[in-house]
Amino acid sequence: MHQFLKAVVTMAVLVLPVLTQAEFRADSPTVLVTGSNRGIGFEFVRQYSAAGWNVIATCRSPEKADDLNALAADNAQIVVEPLDLLDHEGIDALAAKYDGQPVDVLVNNAGLMRGPDKGQIVGSIDYDEFDRFFRVNAAGPLKVSEAFYPHLQKGDKKVVAALTTGKGKKGIPVPGFTLYKTSKAALDAIQQEMALRWKRRDVKVVTLLPGRVPTRGEDTSVAAMNYVAVEDSVAGMISIIDDYSIEHSGRTIQWDGEWID
Ligand SMILES: NC(=O)c1ccc[n+]([C@@H]2O[C@H](COP(=O)([O-])OP(=O)(O)OC[C@H]3O[C@@H](n4cnc5c(N)ncnc54)[C@H](OP(=O)(O)O)[C@@H]3O)[C@@H](O)[C@H]2O)c1
Repeated sequence: MHQFLKAVVTMAVLVLPVLTQAEFRADSPTVLVTGSNRGIGFEFVRQYSAAGWNVIATCRSPEKADDLNALAADNAQIVVEPLDLLDHEGIDALAAKYDGQPVDVLVNNAGLMRGPDKGQIVGSIDYDEFDRFFRVNAAGPLKVSEAFYPHLQKGDKKVVAALTTGKGKKGIPVPGFTLYKTSKAALDAIQQEMALRWKRRDVKVVTLLPGRVPTRGEDTSVAAMNYVAVEDSVAGMISIIDDYSIEHSGRTIQWDGEWID
């Protein structure tokens, strides 16, 4: 037991400074990214920090986010913070911790992406999972946007972005993704509603299609899949966010600049 406690204290001493050491620069813009421990979210953190931004890099389990902690250890402008989309009190607490901190860009990247699987096939829908998909993919980004709206108003750029999936010709062309697709369709509607609500305050809302990005070790040699490298997808989305203007607020655009709606 004694040894165990010692190990816990040693871990805390090693990990805590990484999580709290960040030094934001007052003359740099600030971005908050959700789900930033891996995949597309991690690449957003990497590219924004390389460009000199202050980054609030959130994820569910900072203590397990080895790559992100390593990146933050090398860059004092990255702070790693815990944020679970299912934990609304935790989201409010994080917003309160950053009270007064301008946030120029909020990237609602985190999401539950899964399929095809039985619980998502019409005829055998798993309704507990239905609820979970909606709470993570739709209510989660909405809650984060509401909580950080005061911070966005203080920022210069004032952009809220969220990552969605395609529809129609851009959609997933096989069955078995019902919950994923419908929860993202709800997110699309929420984005439009936020755009209507916040237009007068110059807060811009953009819904982004990242393309098909191989974040889970997919075989990228299959040309028919039209995979987009994560570096290219994120670079494209950052450039869209950079130039986004209020007259386009509420619209959906693909990583390469193609308007979807
Ligand atoms: N990759 C694509 O081709 C593609 C295409 C269209 C749209 N998108 C969207 O782009 C976004 C990022 O995709 P990705 O490929 O990077 O996905 P990913 O590799 O599956 O990463 C998902 C991220 O979301 C986090 N997350 C899941 N549930 C969460 C919760 N309850 N609270 C907080 N964080 C949570 C994960 O955290 P843990 O590590 O803790 O699980 C992880 O950081 C997603 O919204 C996805 O739907 C991706």
